[in-house]
Amino acid sequence: MKFFLDTALVDEIREGVSYGLVDGVTTNPTLVAKSGRPFTEVLKEICAIVDGPISAEVVSTDCEGMLREGRELAKIHDNIVVKVPLIAEGLKATRVFASEGIATNVTLCFSATQALLAAKAGATYISPFVGRLDDISASGMELVEQILDIYEAYDFSTEVIVASIRNPLHVLDAARMGAHIGTMPLSVMKQLMKHPLTDIGLANFLKDWEASQKKG
Ligand code: G3P
Repeated sequence: MKFFLDTALVDEIREGVSYGLVDGVTTNPTLVAKSGRPFTEVLKEICAIVDGPISAEVVSTDCEGMLREGRELAKIHDNIVVKVPLIAEGLKATRVFASEGIATNVTLCFSATQALLAAKAGATYISPFVGRLDDISASGMELVEQILDIYEAYDFSTEVIVASIRNPLHVLDAARMGAHIGTMPLSVMKQLMKHPLTDIGLANFLKDWEASQKKG
């Protein structure tokens, strides 16, 4: 399972990379706005830090506009993946990008039938938003399971990025289901490493060691 960081903050990305845990990065317009930096500048910097797929989202809502924006984004670096919303115009654009060899991440996916259409359009990645479904009392992980079943049944090459991850259980469930990728905030990536018994055990080992050194 690959881990992507879901952020446009380069300091967070550098920290995740220092743990050796970052296989790629996803951004969206909200995350780029939070960084307070120009889009192209921040993308170039991310591409210099992480050697893996970097998703950059278009903001046009018509196919022509998405194609125009996406082609420009793709010129920034070979690792750029054009993120396209899962609407009719986005599916049209995805098909064209696929024919041009431009990788796409079809985002804002909330149903398995949407995911089926994205795969048929030739999407490189599909991003089901699990946390936002949980927020409305639907099951985000059930959606991931459905998508994986469908993609396996038809041997689609589209990879599933479990997105809108909010906690370690989302990552655990995604891993158990065999989802290709989880994209998560740095805070969740760090939570995955933590266990109170590890901390207590280590503190005890060190305390015992120190006591034994004093005796000697
Ligand atoms: O990758 C999608 C993600 O950015 C959405 O997360 O927490 O805003 O639902 P969230």
